[in-house]
Amino acid sequence: MNKRIIVAIDGPAGAGKSTLAKRLAKRLGCLYIDTGAMYRAVALWAARTGTPITDHARLERLAVEAEIALGQDGLVTLNGEDVSAAIRAPEMSESASVISGVPGVRRALVAKQQEMGRETSAVMEGRDIGTVVFPEAAVKIYLDATVDVRAWRRVRDLAARGGVPVFEEVRADIVKRDLRDSTRPDSPLRQAPDAILLDSSELDELQTEEAMLRIVRERTSNGKEILS
Ligand code: DC
Repeated sequence: MNKRIIVAIDGPAGAGKSTLAKRLAKRLGCLYIDTGAMYRAVALWAARTGTPITDHARLERLAVEAEIALGQDGLVTLNGEDVSAAIRAPEMSESASVISGVPGVRRALVAKQQEMGRETSAVMEGRDIGTVVFPEAAVKIYLDATVDVRAWRRVRDLAARGGVPVFEEVRADIVKRDLRDSTRPDSPLRQAPDAILLDSSELDELQTEEAMLRIVRERTSNGKEILS
């Protein structure tokens, strides 16, 4: 019988976590869990209900009550509604980063994430997976890239979705969000001491995927548990 394996992928905005985690999960034949999408879904619900950022009790209640389902193809539903596109709007990146600093919101979403990965092998990506959500994860990767590379990747993604992004603005947003995510008191973005740092600045997607697979193999007795 295969052993359950959690692959934790953390890193700053635009490092390519979603794309790579999705590809890796497919290669490993396990579940892909995008935890950022969950913070985005709660941010969207808060915006729609006019919940102020200062109302921590209500934000926590929304996070507890939110029924969030994550599909393997990027589909995200909130209380049964497809919000996949709505949560990717640039203002939701900002709001998700802000509400993710509310301890009650983190408590509620971390509990849901731990439940999702309790019985199944998964590639889970976010900011605190290796440090807080699954500190005992068998494989931890901290995926990084220079801020310019990350900004260019974001520009390309936004343009592909029909936007007209301005590099300087996208870069400034990323710098601001990284600073907020890595300096909040509760579960700030940081590399777990036992995580492997992978800098993808000079790598394309395929090379990054291969590098990740190598790390998985090294960390899981040659990956026999999940790799065929
Ligand atoms: O990965 P993303 O850009 O979709 O995440 C949106 C925001 O959610 C990010 O700025 C910080 C927050 N987040 C978090 O605090 N913890 C996570 N595990 C995932 C995301």
